[in-house]
Amino acid sequence: MPSDLAFIHRFEPAQRLEAPPLLLLHGTGGDESDLLPFGRAVSPGSALLSPRGQVLEHGMPRFFRRLAEGVFDEDDVRRRAHELADFVQAAQARYGIAAPLAVGFSNGANIAAAMLLLRPEVLAGAVLLRAMVPLTETPKADLRDKPVLIVSGQFDPIIPASNAAQLATSLTRAGATVEHPVLPTGHQLSQADLTIAKQWMSNAARPRRQDAL
Ligand code: MLT
Repeated sequence: MPSDLAFIHRFEPAQRLEAPPLLLLHGTGGDESDLLPFGRAVSPGSALLSPRGQVLEHGMPRFFRRLAEGVFDEDDVRRRAHELADFVQAAQARYGIAAPLAVGFSNGANIAAAMLLLRPEVLAGAVLLRAMVPLTETPKADLRDKPVLIVSGQFDPIIPASNAAQLATSLTRAGATVEHPVLPTGHQLSQADLTIAKQWMSNAARPRRQDAL
């Protein structure tokens, strides 16, 4: 979509105004179209805002630079999380949407976790699919009214179980209401991710959002 907003992105307006807007964040090598079907399925009628990561790793879009698999350039994580947060706020004003719930996969989940910790006011909460700790030193954040779902894969070769558990602990300590199911699967998304995220949206995310209106 042509736009003066800083990220190439797609936007689908809400079909149901009571459905929470979603910020869709793709994994390494994905783009702004990847998670649209997941977003439509997980929260039918939600406005969908889906940017493309601005870092290229051998031609593959990502949301921040890494030094190796699972080893992040943390200065870049911080800078890019702020840039993405600025984009989300500009898009909110442009499209007239509330603070979105982030739905991120892999690299997209990691930047969503970083945004939650660095710019909590920009997100209503988050669904983090195959996420890991984005910053070794956890920024101080008040996540008291933020619902967070982390869905991990028991056999994920990229993310050690202890790392995902540490992310859940940090977000809980910051005040977020965290659910952290671990599926008997690997790094890729499965039908179970969709089922769990959809269920969580209707239980955890929606009532809280309505409280906040
Ligand atoms: C990352 O780089 O964010 C994680 O290693 C996951 C990935 O994108 O492969």
